[in-house]
Amino acid sequence: MTQRIWNFSAGPAVLPESVLEEARENLLSLGKTGIGILEHSHRGKAFLAVYEETEALVREVGGVPAGYKVLFLQGGASTQFFQIPMNFLSPDQTADYLVTGSWSEKAEEEARRFGKTHIACSSQDKNFSYIPATSSFSEKPVYAHYTSNNTIFGTQWPGLPPVPAGVDLICDASSDIYSRPIDVSKHALIYAGAQKNLGPSGVTLLLIRDELIERGAKNLPTMLQYRTHAKNESMYNTPPTFAIYLVGLVLKWIKKDGGLPAVGERNQRKAGKLYSYLDQSKLFKATAAVGSRSQMNVTFVTGDADLDAKFCSAATKAGFDGLKGHRSVGGMRASIYNAFPEAGVDALIEFLKNFEAENGK
Ligand SMILES: Cc1ncc(COP(=O)(O)O)c(C=O)c1O
Repeated sequence: MTQRIWNFSAGPAVLPESVLEEARENLLSLGKTGIGILEHSHRGKAFLAVYEETEALVREVGGVPAGYKVLFLQGGASTQFFQIPMNFLSPDQTADYLVTGSWSEKAEEEARRFGKTHIACSSQDKNFSYIPATSSFSEKPVYAHYTSNNTIFGTQWPGLPPVPAGVDLICDASSDIYSRPIDVSKHALIYAGAQKNLGPSGVTLLLIRDELIERGAKNLPTMLQYRTHAKNESMYNTPPTFAIYLVGLVLKWIKKDGGLPAVGERNQRKAGKLYSYLDQSKLFKATAAVGSRSQMNVTFVTGDADLDAKFCSAATKAGFDGLKGHRSVGGMRASIYNAFPEAGVDALIEFLKNFEAENGK
């Protein structure tokens, strides 16, 4: 058995070991088919069964109500930054953006190519270290877009943003999809790259209201219209079959584990332990404001860039990988998505304690 280390990568990220083992078994032959999962035609019976099961699990685990389509697309969440306004925003209309980090900034910038945008709130004044308590919306936005978890800055919306009744809410949930229970019915569209909580990179999951699909522009290239993918069960062209298969395995693992309520509780406990340690530490400090802290990406600093670098280097040597913070925040970031084991959080806390004992003032 290969020795695995604690992987705090922000994405692609750690996957459940049991999922990787099952995938390995099916690489040479998916079940008894004699053909590996990577080699099956997307039109064949074997893959269609995988697809149907994954789609059903997306619905069951996420509590996706009737009236929503599940789509598996490509191009990453970054493609959704432009595909959404391309479909729904015209030059004389306004879309509202809640700007809580670099990813929402990017989404808003792309929207400006197609129509007007209004910044309903922004936490840029404090380097995106908090989630704004209030927002101010434009008069008639065609939609309001928010990023539920800000991967880089370690903040997360504690609940739904306060959007006026009747405004279609769109969420980039790339870094907290299915990490806690979600109310899909409050959204017109939720999208997420799978590579943090749900599987490998290469597939973007969309939960989209049927009525919104119909509203999309009709003069776009075929591949950029949501209706194309909706009509063809995400198989207008060749879908990312292996990524879809893995998403299915991860969802089965979540379901067996007690579903989103249990996963959410565990994620809360994992992050809670880490924040509790940081809050009493005299060396380390969490960078996100209390009340806005992410359960997925815990960002922290010592306040001394050299000491941060020393910590990261010592951590890597001790088998804790991927802890270096994003350059826009500096310091450290521990990404502890669904599949990151609680034992790894405990081990990190021990390591932090020892480092503090040796390097604290
Ligand atoms: C919140 C968020 N949105 C969007 C993206 C971009 O996703 P992709 O690389 O799948 O385009 C990321 C990537 O880390 C992210 O964290």
